[in-house]
Amino acid sequence: MKNILITGCSSGFGLETAKYFLDRDWKVVATMRSPREDALPRSEHLRVLALDVTDPESIRQAVEAARPIDALVNNAGFGAASPFETTPMATVRELFETNTFGTMALTQAVLPQFRQRRAGVVVNVTSSVTLKSIPLIASYTASKAAVNAFTESMALELAQFGVRACLVLPGRSPETRFGDNARARMHGLDHEAYADLVKSVFARFGEPGPITHAQDVAEAVWRAVNDPSSPMRIPAGADAVIWAASS
Ligand SMILES: NC(=O)c1ccc[n+]([C@@H]2O[C@H](COP(=O)([O-])OP(=O)(O)OC[C@H]3O[C@@H](n4cnc5c(N)ncnc54)[C@H](OP(=O)(O)O)[C@@H]3O)[C@@H](O)[C@H]2O)c1
Repeated sequence: MKNILITGCSSGFGLETAKYFLDRDWKVVATMRSPREDALPRSEHLRVLALDVTDPESIRQAVEAARPIDALVNNAGFGAASPFETTPMATVRELFETNTFGTMALTQAVLPQFRQRRAGVVVNVTSSVTLKSIPLIASYTASKAAVNAFTESMALELAQFGVRACLVLPGRSPETRFGDNARARMHGLDHEAYADLVKSVFARFGEPGPITHAQDVAEAVWRAVNDPSSPMRIPAGADAVIWAASS
């Protein structure tokens, strides 16, 4: 039975992906900053471990406890909306610490066992906003575009060992905790110079249209992990598929 480690399983895409793999006879190491045993259905194939991707010691302990790992899903991340001019550099750094450097650090911690076993897959969850720019999320987009870039280059290094790396690019999903978690890091949305833009962007968010469901992301991760012929970039969600086709 294969073993998958997923980050950010306390809610949203990570939680759904953990359930999806558990239902399909994988052993799942569901990691969370604050582990909650009741977040997922009880299963002898489930382990819930503490992991904060910004903490090197937390990464070391989780990877040691979870081995051997067959698939790694770097899903943990958060967003922040504000005009770039008014985004504190502290927020820019926090975004990169989690979304980019956290993903890189955990990947580096897992790769030696993949290379030695000549097997394994890394799936990095980024975003369809890296395909088509929208305003007010410049720093978030940059943190995810950097993950696209390093993943695509790293995949070329790993192919010789039979190790794969792929990207899952979800669209907008109002059903996860993403919006709530981003709210604490919105700075300068009330700046008068950007007021009209902010109003029109948020009005567009509220319009009906295709969106992404957590299940779409779980299915895309499943495909990335289990189908060696899957493309490097897999859009997840109806809106993401449309964006990917038009980008
Ligand atoms: N929802 C969207 O519209 C959307 C669209 C495209 C891409 N994405 C991406 O999809 C991924 C999952 O987002 P989601 O929509 O499922 O949002 P979510 O419900 O807020 O889930 C994010 C998860 O990341 C965890 N996390 C945050 N910082 C962490 C850290 N330092 N170490 C470990 N875990 C950390 C959170 O844990 P805590 O509970 O401890 O905060 C939570 O479990 C993110 O990478 C996000 O950028 C989301």
